[in-house]
Amino acid sequence: MRTKLIVGNWKMFGTLAETRKLIFQLAVEWGKPCEGVEVAVCPPFTSLIVAKHQLELSHIKLGAQNCYAETSGAFTGEISPAMLADIGCTYVILGHSERRTLFGETDELVSRKVRASLDAGLTPIICIGETESQRDNNETESVLARQLAGSLATLTNDDAAKIVLAYEPVWAIGTGKTATPEQAQAAHAFIRSELSKKFGDAAGSIQILYGGSVKPQNAKVLFACPDVDGGLVGGASLDADQFIAIIEAAATP
Ligand code: 13P
Repeated sequence: MRTKLIVGNWKMFGTLAETRKLIFQLAVEWGKPCEGVEVAVCPPFTSLIVAKHQLELSHIKLGAQNCYAETSGAFTGEISPAMLADIGCTYVILGHSERRTLFGETDELVSRKVRASLDAGLTPIICIGETESQRDNNETESVLARQLAGSLATLTNDDAAKIVLAYEPVWAIGTGKTATPEQAQAAHAFIRSELSKKFGDAAGSIQILYGGSVKPQNAKVLFACPDVDGGLVGGASLDADQFIAIIEAAATP
């Protein structure tokens, strides 16, 4: 039985004041652990250390939204996985479609980042997903298979227990369009079958999150799908009431 995981991807939102307020609402005002649900927030780099201090006594874990594929060196502007681990991050989101499309990240680069993150002791949340035209052209499975093969190229069987996947159909991100439970389940089952080809039985323990316009109104039906192990939440994770409602939707059967 896999534990549900709800991760808030704040994207490029959150001044320090906004970070303090939102983490206070989540960790202090609400703060109760939900049975069977792990929770993490991924604020921008500039807010991570402040968020970490505020989350000290909380069950909520911290993650970053990106990192580079090297431990240190002359890479102006980059942040290494070791630095993220050093300040107490547990997770790092890698290969998000916004990074793939806006910043030209390839599967090959994502795979190197995944390797480096694992080596630093972080849990990578590896994002894959098809565009609307790829879905319309019946290419969803081939795109997912290609992204999986490329992004996981550096992994061995021992790594299977230390990764999280996120299926994020690009057409559902920030659009208010959500995959139907049937579409989400079909994609997640396909991803799991590809993971089994690579990792064997260990694929059964890998959490696969759904991302793309997850809201309190649709969270429960999505999380009820047998292969949907939680959510990677964008916009709704910036509102404490909505994010808490999504966490609670994952807790109740
Ligand atoms: P939205 O929830 O805003 O659609 O964003 C999804 C996402 O990109 C999470 O990584």
